[in-house]
Amino acid sequence: MIGDVLTQPPSLDALRERMRESLKGIVPDFEIDYKAELAHQINLLKKEMNAVILGHNYMEPALYQSVPDYVGDSLQLSAISAETEADVIVFCGVWFMGETAKVLNPKKTVLVPSNRAGCSLAEGISAKDVRGLKAQFPGAPVVTYVNTYAEVKAESDYCCTSGNANKVLKHLLDQGHKRIIFLPDQYLAHNTARELGVGFITAGIDDHDSIPADQPTVIGWDVRCEVHELFTVEDVNNVRRQYPDAVILAHPECSPEVIDSVDISGSTKAMVDYVEQTDAPMYALFTECSMGDNLAAQFPHREMVRSCSLRCRHMNQITLEDTLDGLRKLQYQVELPEDIIALAKKPIDRMLEIR
Ligand code: 13P
Ligand code: SF4
Repeated sequence: MIGDVLTQPPSLDALRERMRESLKGIVPDFEIDYKAELAHQINLLKKEMNAVILGHNYMEPALYQSVPDYVGDSLQLSAISAETEADVIVFCGVWFMGETAKVLNPKKTVLVPSNRAGCSLAEGISAKDVRGLKAQFPGAPVVTYVNTYAEVKAESDYCCTSGNANKVLKHLLDQGHKRIIFLPDQYLAHNTARELGVGFITAGIDDHDSIPADQPTVIGWDVRCEVHELFTVEDVNNVRRQYPDAVILAHPECSPEVIDSVDISGSTKAMVDYVEQTDAPMYALFTECSMGDNLAAQFPHREMVRSCSLRCRHMNQITLEDTLDGLRKLQYQVELPEDIIALAKKPIDRMLEIR
């Protein structure tokens, strides 16, 4: 069980110094001084309230380096939320992440610091859409990406993240399924199907009659991440021309063409691990831009090509100011109907089992 997070918070001076050291060259000192005060207040309140703060890898660098008890990708943070002994879970990430934590902890208070931190994937599919697909492809198991709202998960058989999509799909293929519905990210579904050498169609776009009866096929949905879909092969080629020694990493929410043109594809955790464990002359990331700053801060001996053109406007909602406000006012609380919690728990539990 995770019960060891509530250690004594550092003094304001110690926290400010730690932040100045880890964010050197990334965040100017005057900004750190202001943010360290907010972070210090958050840390005091967190202890007083027996709260745990989970920070997604896309959080802005000063927040990422100061208040979370745990940082990671959506799979890691879901697993941690399932085991915490804290009374209050503050999810510094987007709303669907808070919902997943609530399904796993129905009796705890789960807060997301902004109620406007959505996600283009989660907003691109409804429970009714899933019911429609199930009627269209009877018997096909439904895998939903964790980037969905709980009512969609409640209609699903399995959930997955980009960290275990391959394993979940393989698990179903090994059971002999020939049709697997994989929602809603068209690119993640297509990239994962290609990795496993199985066919792919997009429901409502491609001709369903063209699916060969005896060959496994993944059925996807016509929705993409509004950030990752903007990266192009030309962007990758430009980085290669300018930085020929750079290893280029991309999140699998990028298009299959972009994934083909980069060196490594993986979840945000896989990217962190790669940068930590390999020794390339330089790294370039095709993902949400805070990751570059966070990796540069975490691994100062690594050279990162950093750009900040593509920031997720949803992740960007989560600030230190709102996190402090959230703890003070116990807002924004994630609430879900009991029947949805009961139905969504099974696919989420399966996601946590297949890792
Ligand atoms: P990870 O699961 O890789 O952390 O990604 C979540 C996400 O929202 C990517 O855009
Ligand atoms: Fe959603 Fe894309 Fe933002 Fe991730 S980066 S939270 S998938 S909109």
